[in-house]
Amino acid sequence: MSLFQALPHELMRMPTDAAVRFRHRLNDTGLFTDEALARLIDEQPRDRLDVLTMRKNPPGGERWTAGEANGLSGAEILEAVRTGALWVSCRRAMEMHPRYKPVFDQAIADYSREVGVKVLSASASVLISGPQMGIFFHADAADTMLWHLRGSKTMMIYPSTEAYIPDTAMEAILLKENLSDAPYREEMDAAAETVVFHAGDAAAWPLHAPHRVLNGDSLNVSISVEYTTPQCVLTNGVLFTNGWLRRRLKAPVWSRPPATLHPVYSAASKGLRVVEKFRKTVEKSHPRKFDVDLSYPDNIRWREGQAPAALRMAAE
Ligand SMILES: [Fe+2]
Repeated sequence: MSLFQALPHELMRMPTDAAVRFRHRLNDTGLFTDEALARLIDEQPRDRLDVLTMRKNPPGGERWTAGEANGLSGAEILEAVRTGALWVSCRRAMEMHPRYKPVFDQAIADYSREVGVKVLSASASVLISGPQMGIFFHADAADTMLWHLRGSKTMMIYPSTEAYIPDTAMEAILLKENLSDAPYREEMDAAAETVVFHAGDAAAWPLHAPHRVLNGDSLNVSISVEYTTPQCVLTNGVLFTNGWLRRRLKAPVWSRPPATLHPVYSAASKGLRVVEKFRKTVEKSHPRKFDVDLSYPDNIRWREGQAPAALRMAAE
């Protein structure tokens, strides 16, 4: 049986102009209960366990802060997320963990077959996040979708156009000058499409469409999926090559070359990717500023001198 319920026809016509919602059956696998998640966190290599905090209901442009959860069991970390201000990502667990990989492989095979899309590569993380947590306005480098498992969250999805995600911003993301930052202005919200996710809901949205997320009032568990298709590789090849020409040669670029030239740009980008070495990782970009501690407010114990100014003043 497929891990998806009847997939809507709009998915067969991707890329579409709007998000497409559908339903999945991943909760039936038993891999996302409290017990299973605690075990997953215990087994997740610590260098692929991202532990983040942020203000509750964060404004659209506000980044998170990274921390660590050393010395805590998976069950304790799960409890800290449920009762605190935390966002934990078991990065790439779906395709790397031996218990989760077969399910992910089946889900991608089902999706690819039913939608009629060729998936060249796919990667997915298990996101476990607390009440009112959120992720700032950003765009992802590949096609993305969210398979939501527990709790509720609202995603705002913005048009994938120059006004909302300029080519230069997308080039910077592909050239790994930053993680996924894109310039955000509050007035952009007027054009956003709002998608509310409950257990079993999923959605895919247009390539590079910026989005942000706000959780509801309870523990949230989701799978974020990044995958590439032949079309995505061609589009990114144009952006990468243009980004390189703009930055390295200060050359004027042809931002929308005809489709017949896309394979040329794509081939060029493959060589340029090898030449380019300026990669930033979460580890390098984001110093750890707190430790998870269930005895502190929001389960966050700020490291010396790292608490946000408002909290320092309150403590003085
Ligand atoms: Fe994203």
